[in-house]
Amino acid sequence: MQRKGLSETIKVMQNHRSVRKYTTDPIPRSDLHEIIKAAQGAASSNFVQAYSIILVTDRDKRQQIARLANNQGHVNDCPVFLLFCVDWKRLEYATDKQGVRIQYDTVENFIVGVVDTALMAQNALTAAESLGYGGCYIGGVRNNPGAISEIVRLPDKVFPLFGMCLGVPAETHQVKPRLPVEAILHENGYREEHRCRHIIHRGPVTTRRAAGRRRWPGFWRKSGECT
Ligand SMILES: Cc1cc2nc3c(=O)[nH]c(=O)nc-3n(C[C@H](O)[C@H](O)[C@H](O)COP(=O)(O)O)c2cc1C
Repeated sequence: MQRKGLSETIKVMQNHRSVRKYTTDPIPRSDLHEIIKAAQGAASSNFVQAYSIILVTDRDKRQQIARLANNQGHVNDCPVFLLFCVDWKRLEYATDKQGVRIQYDTVENFIVGVVDTALMAQNALTAAESLGYGGCYIGGVRNNPGAISEIVRLPDKVFPLFGMCLGVPAETHQVKPRLPVEAILHENGYREEHRCRHIIHRGPVTTRRAAGRRRWPGFWRKSGECT
């Protein structure tokens, strides 16, 4: 196959950086609809689509969730806040109608729900970024999953995995450099020496400027000898 350079999709993906400050411009519902449709395009284990998204527009609910998610101001201020939930309730309803009982409370099905939801959410973020929006995951919702579930009335068998802020970026910072591809890509078997060669000796780019607004956590910094 002949190709000319990187695809637009790859450029969007390699350009990702979390955005935590937004202009007051809204995201039109039509864009949001397309973003969610794109999210649903993600593959789904056994096609269970074990997820639901809560769009939180109510100011009061948003404030409460921001506080419960570790007091993160951007949760309150972003134009769009989505709560991504693992949802086995819908499937239970559907299978009940067929007289079949699903076993949702197994580790395997827990993983299925989490993976389905995460793949779908990442599609949403990539789709939003491809339209010029920026966003940020909010794992902080898992600090208080019970209280947040009550605020948005999640039934049993549905739980919040993470939130996502979306909006028009009001800040730009550099893409945080990832580990080198060679550090995470192993051929035909895991190679322990990769870890030392690429992290301790070469290390990822560690200057503050290159790493973007936030610093690398200590465990990725260049530190000492290979052992
Ligand atoms: C599942 C998940 C949860 C996250 N939770 C938060 C969060 O609660 N608050 C926040 O500001 N950033 C959160 N982030 C964003 C990460 O801090 C960010 O993706 C990481 O530092 C890499 O930076 P980048 O996204 O700009 O490349 C989360 C990211 C993921 C994938």
